[in-house]
Formats: sequence, C-alpha cells, structure tokens
Amino acid sequence: MKANIVLLPGDGIGPEIVLQAQRVLEAVAARFGHEFEFSSHMIGGVAIDTCGDPLPQETIAACRNSDAILLGAVGGPKWDDPSAKTRPEAGLLKIRKELGLFANLRPIRLFDELLDASPLRREIIEGTDILFLRELTGGIYFGESGTDGNGQSESAYQSMVYSVSEVERIVRLAAKAAQGRDNRLTSVDKANVLEPSRLWRRVAARVMEEEFPDVKYDVVLVDAMAMHLINRPSDFDVVVTGNMFGDILTDEASMLPGSLGMLPSASLGSDGPGLYEPIHGSAPDIAGEGVANPLATILASAMLLRHSLGLEDEAKVIEVAVQSVLADGLRTHDIARGNASIGTEPMGSAVVERVSV
Ligand code: NAD
Ligand code: IPM
Ligand code: MN
Repeated sequence: MKANIVLLPGDGIGPEIVLQAQRVLEAVAARFGHEFEFSSHMIGGVAIDTCGDPLPQETIAACRNSDAILLGAVGGPKWDDPSAKTRPEAGLLKIRKELGLFANLRPIRLFDELLDASPLRREIIEGTDILFLRELTGGIYFGESGTDGNGQSESAYQSMVYSVSEVERIVRLAAKAAQGRDNRLTSVDKANVLEPSRLWRRVAARVMEEEFPDVKYDVVLVDAMAMHLINRPSDFDVVVTGNMFGDILTDEASMLPGSLGMLPSASLGSDGPGLYEPIHGSAPDIAGEGVANPLATILASAMLLRHSLGLEDEAKVIEVAVQSVLADGLRTHDIARGNASIGTEPMGSAVVERVSV
C-alpha cells in the first residue's frame, strides 16, 4: 500500500515523540512492504513564530491531501499570554473543525505490565477497558465568545451550543462501537443544570431507543462520573460525552493505565483523513530533555493504521511490540514510579526493534 502521511510535530515534546512514532511506522512499512510517504508541516506555537498563524493555509492543504495525519502537541508558556491575539491551541481547534473531525476516540486500555504503575490500587483498576467518544467540533469550545465592558465592569462569555444532528452523529458512532464491544453505552452530561445537556439527553435517548434497542444504555451526570471513574472504572464499556467533559474526564482516566503518556486518540469525521495524536499536551516541563514517553504517540500511529489505512494486522504488530517492551521491564520516567527508566529515543528504538523482527 502507498500512503501519504502528514506529520504535525508542533511544540514542546511534540517533535521528540512524533519522530519515534515515524520510526515505528517506517519499520512497519519495511516489514510489510508498504510505501509511506511522510511530510512535516507547521502547527501551533512554532507556526505563530514563523508566520504569525497557528494553522497556515499550507498546512490545511497538506492535511486535506493526505491519507492520515499524526500530530504531536501544541502550546507552551511562550505563547500563554492571556492577552495575545492568537494561541497555538487555536490551530488545533481549527484543523479539527476544518476537517470535520467530530468524533474523538480515546481508548483507556490497561497493560497488565503496568497495573502497579497506576496511583490507584490494582484491585480497583483490574478489568478496566473503556472507549471514550468525545464530541470534538461543537459545544462550548466552538460557542460564541467575547468580552464586554472595561475595567471593573469587564466581563467575558463563551456559550455552549449543541444541535440535534451533532448529538445524533456522535451517539450513533458510540452505539455502533458498543455493538462491537461489550454492548454497553454510558452517556455523560450535566442535564440537571445545562440546557445543551438536556437536549443531548433527549436526543441520545431517542437515538438509542429507535436505532439501538439492543445496546444497554444509561446516563450519568459528569460530576458523578468523575467519581465513578476512579471508584469503579471496570463497570464502563463505551462512554459518550461532549467536548469539554470528554477533555477533562479522559485526562482523569489516564491515571487508570498510569500515565498521560500512554493514551492515544483518533479524531475522525464522516470522510477524509483522520487525525491521530496522544491525548497529552506539549509537556513544557520536560521538553528538550529526551525523557518524554513516546508510547501514546506510537499507539496513536497504530490507530492511524487501523482506522485510516485499514491495516489491522500492522496496527496489532505495533500494539504487541509496545506490550513486549513493557513486559521486558522498559519504562520511561512517567511509568517507572521511581524505578530505573530510559529516555524517549531508546524507548522508540525498543519498539522499532520488536516491530522489525
Ligand atoms: P501536558 O499534558 O502537556 O502535561 C501534564 C503533565 O503530564 C506534565 O507534568 C507533563 O510532563 C506530563 N506528560 C505529558 N505528556 C507526557 C509524556 N508523553 N511523557 C511523560 N510525561 C508527560 O499538560 P499541560 O502542562 O497542562 O499543558 C501544556 C501545554 O500543552 C499547554 O499549552 C496546553 O494547552 C497544551 N496541550 C496541548 C494538547 C494537544 O496539543 N493536543 C493537549 C493538552 C494540552
Ligand atoms: C486535548 C487538548 C486540547 C483540547 C487543547 C490543547 C485545545 O487539551 O486535545 O485534549 O482541549 O481539546
Ligand atoms: Mn486535553
């Protein structure tokens, strides 16, 4: 197979981790006889510094013409001034919107080898296997926003809007995903307070009743979900929720496998290329030190092979290689819990070696 893969390394640890995932994809290509063509483009802070725009037109065009996109992370203290006229994060939000990537799949998969790397007790997390579907192009992230007034009377607002069709399409996708797993779906909202959540709850219930009567369906309020996730995580199968709730709950859920550095994600639309990225950010506190965990990005590259290129066997080869590296006791500092650790590049090489057998 020939595939054109766009790399968006971005800021902070982004370039370090994307490089390791690219090496792994190259090893897959060599082993299976595929031709992957890579091209790197700018997004985020580096793009602001170079051309004043966190998402240059050239990057959008390259993404549109690609088969799949692999992103590192954007942002950092250099661009954090709250009065700056643009931000790195705006580039990421814009590429999601431009490509219609409304569904963000965030699997919370535990590796047996890391059961003791979690800050939670083994008996709580054992058996956990959750697929989050986070709505990605609507809600409060994309609502009308602005500021009014001056001085003491200055105020700021950002509205949360969801439409029927936005809720329908993400709930349908989540219900279909549930049918391919344990056939259970939980919808998370804040319908006791927020109007868009009440619409979400009504629409979700109707879609489930009319189209997926076989799927076991329940609803949980987001504040309670934050608690259930660390109390009884193994009770959940597929979880569907809005943009902001999904952002927050999945960072929390990353403590189940033990580290943000282990969680990949796939952002998909109804057609066109998908965008694959770790769920973590640019980790400015460790950028440039060569110690970041590249496994989330490497696992995201497996999701890229599976969802955008239809290469299931190749995706599994990467996931098995990651498992084998962990079984051999190799750990970056975030999952070492005080024991010996290795850096980003050696971790990437260990995966490449196992993919290349
Ligand atoms: P972060 O996810 O970058 O880091 C949180 C903590 O987790 C840090 O201590 C960091 O060192 C650690 N961490 C994250 N990834 C790691 C990895 N692969 N290996 C080891 N440790 C890792 O979150 P933050 O510090 O709140 O945000 C930093 C910047 O990243 C902000 O500008 C934020 O907007 C941006 N951000 C970008 C994305 C993205 O591009 N998708 C996602 C989240 C945050
Ligand atoms: C994520 C990030 C982004 C988000 C930011 C950087 C815009 O936190 O991908 O989880 O909030 O969606
Ligand atoms: Mn986030």
